[in-house]
Amino acid sequence: MIVNTELEQKGNLFPSKIIKFKKDVDTLFFYTDNNVILQLKVLRDSVLRFRYTTTGTFENDFSYAITKYASTGYNKLVIEDKETYFEVTTSKLICRISKENLSVSIYDAHDMTLINQDEIGFHWEESYEFGGNIVKMSKVVNERESYFGLGDKPEHLNLKGKRFQNWVTDSYAFGKHTDPIYKAIPFYTGLHHNKAYGIFFDNTFQSFFDFGQERRNVTSFWAQGGEMDYYFIYGPKVQSVVEKYTDLTGKPHQLPPLWALGFHQCKWSYYPEANVKAITNKFRELQIPCDAIYLDIDYMDGFRCFTWNKEYFPDPKRMVKELADDGFKTVAIIDPGIKIDNEYSVFKEALDKDYFCKRADGPYMKGKVWPGECYFPDFTKPEVRDWWSGLFQELIEDVGIQGVWNDMNEPAVMEVPNKTFPDDVRHDYDGNPCSHRKAHNIYGMQMARATYHGLKKFNYPKRPFVITRAAYSGTQRYTSTWTGDNVATWEHLWIANVQAQRMAMSGFSFAGSDIGGFAEQPQGELFTRWIQLGIFHPFCRVHSSGDHGDQEPWAFDEDVTDIVRKFIELRYQLLPYLYTCFWNLVEHGTPILQSLVMYDQEDSQTYYRTDEFIFGKQILVCPILEPNAKGRRMYIPRGTWYNLWTDEQVQGGKEKWVDAEIDSMPIFIKAGAIIPKYPVQQYTDEKNIEEITLDIYYKEGKEVSQVFEDAHDGYDYTKGRYSFRIIKLTGKPNELILQQHKEGTYEAAFKWFKLKIHGLPFQIKEIEIDNVIIPLDKLIENGTSSMIIDKKFSEIHIKGNLL
Ligand code: NOJ
Repeated sequence: MIVNTELEQKGNLFPSKIIKFKKDVDTLFFYTDNNVILQLKVLRDSVLRFRYTTTGTFENDFSYAITKYASTGYNKLVIEDKETYFEVTTSKLICRISKENLSVSIYDAHDMTLINQDEIGFHWEESYEFGGNIVKMSKVVNERESYFGLGDKPEHLNLKGKRFQNWVTDSYAFGKHTDPIYKAIPFYTGLHHNKAYGIFFDNTFQSFFDFGQERRNVTSFWAQGGEMDYYFIYGPKVQSVVEKYTDLTGKPHQLPPLWALGFHQCKWSYYPEANVKAITNKFRELQIPCDAIYLDIDYMDGFRCFTWNKEYFPDPKRMVKELADDGFKTVAIIDPGIKIDNEYSVFKEALDKDYFCKRADGPYMKGKVWPGECYFPDFTKPEVRDWWSGLFQELIEDVGIQGVWNDMNEPAVMEVPNKTFPDDVRHDYDGNPCSHRKAHNIYGMQMARATYHGLKKFNYPKRPFVITRAAYSGTQRYTSTWTGDNVATWEHLWIANVQAQRMAMSGFSFAGSDIGGFAEQPQGELFTRWIQLGIFHPFCRVHSSGDHGDQEPWAFDEDVTDIVRKFIELRYQLLPYLYTCFWNLVEHGTPILQSLVMYDQEDSQTYYRTDEFIFGKQILVCPILEPNAKGRRMYIPRGTWYNLWTDEQVQGGKEKWVDAEIDSMPIFIKAGAIIPKYPVQQYTDEKNIEEITLDIYYKEGKEVSQVFEDAHDGYDYTKGRYSFRIIKLTGKPNELILQQHKEGTYEAAFKWFKLKIHGLPFQIKEIEIDNVIIPLDKLIENGTSSMIIDKKFSEIHIKGNLL
């Protein structure tokens, strides 16, 4: 092979012939005559793990990403020794491993479509400087293949033709194409011939992915150290790939409390107390719903974590209680840098207990952050994480803080060229000592993990809420995230949209941007358009840097305030719908946002769409991304959709102009959907809700909708005390049938459903509820199609005369 010769000249090495094969239950070992071993583990019929060593032995098998709860088990496993290859067959896949050079080809077991094929496959270069190898993998690009995923890359959704790296980086005012930024999620989905598969390269060293950039027909990935260790995940649906990846790396450990899905207001910084109160009071005065207020670093004493500036906040406990009485949760920031100060108890204790990271030759890792010179806890050590969790006792139990925001945990270091620790810093890595080269990408994740455990413990029996900036695969188990220091520009609105979708496709749905932009100040129009998008992101928070002017909903003009209020109200109405999406995320790993390609991969028109997305399963959203717009063209996916504002029905599968003046945006509901809505509240659980509205969008045919309810906090739902309603809609030309089935033992406080029917093609003549015909005048509100129904109905038949 020409390529091999070229690569050889550059110092690359390749596996040679297989000389031995061994099987150990679900794990197969292929030995070559130059000490390479391929370990192939069959986790599920559709999930295979490939691991290579070049030394005849493997490293200790340890991963921060893979959860112990990952599903395993398969229906079929047959291994055949063929003339030139070994063939491994499960009920979903056929995998061939060449005897000549270990190269792998994977086929769909049902129709033998070639899904994924090594080009050169595994090869490596020895790393003389650090020891070990630079490990590499190359694969063939299939005909018309598309690539998605990789976390927070501010790039077009479809990654084809591009190259990226994973190295979590503090990236103030990053831009479109900046790479890398805050997260390292080495997982992508490939899609061709309407079949999707995923590759998760579980290697925490700096890694690279090339999707046909260097060579048009080759996709490759490699890392600066560690093992070539990747998981192959077969869909064939994109959504199923993401769900299986999420199963491997973990679903969120529990539902967030409902308040975490409300609107949050933040700024660097609100202080002193009087200013915090002025902000929260203004929300109530202007009747703009809001659930959380954030305290950025200025609440601390000289930026020392776990302390208070007593001049600004003389009595934090009282303040937090007063805010809570007014329906606000207080979220406080905590950074990893601990100020070097012998009078500071957190510093003293960590020093005494030897919890700080050290350089290779022994000195502490010293670096500047907000408090000046700091040392940094080694969060990769279990004992340090336990200590860190314990530090939250006072903040949570005593002061009453409800959420914690972990920032600067890349870790960010100021005034040094690489913005982080040097490579030689040592880490425990849970008993697998290593340098920062290996621990860098998981440092922030381990900090967020320790924070999460602190909150979980001290906030019990309430559920924890954490937000992190840095992340590696698996961080979604512990925390939500935001996309870091963006800028108040229209381009960043585009970026925010792509990032939220990409994060959802990367198994990390609970994400959002700094609405309005962190750096610089938006004009009212940009702020409004950003709020319109932001209310459809799982995490919805306005945040901005202090030195660029105000960014509260009233900081522009009254029209802006009114429109912003209207959209935040819409989010609050949609909370039961969003909460149901979170339930599906926590139960099944189902992404909360679906890019159109995930929603309908059979329609190749969707492969290069970036702006439109599906919120949950049934709401199509397309933000306005330009100034002075009166609407926009957008792609409507196949099927029938209702315009939320006008009830106009449109047929998808084509582009369409949609009007959207500044007080509107393109939002469509899937025909057949039943959307549950709360009344508007100023904060979650403000009211005793007696009635949930069901907006029913008639369709000829069938559609299934869901409504999840529980106590909105606490762990009772894990013991079955939840209610999960499945409502089936069947539409006929002159009849609409709703069938309700409920699971779970929770009795939600609401009593009635208010049914609002949209697009009914007939005039209602008769309504039958659970076999009893109900007089129309008892049900139907003043000539509309709204009716109030006991929530316990099993079956409703709405019959009519054709119009
Ligand atoms: C950087 C964070 O990204 C930002 O959100 C925060 O306000 C500042 N640090 C100050 O804490």
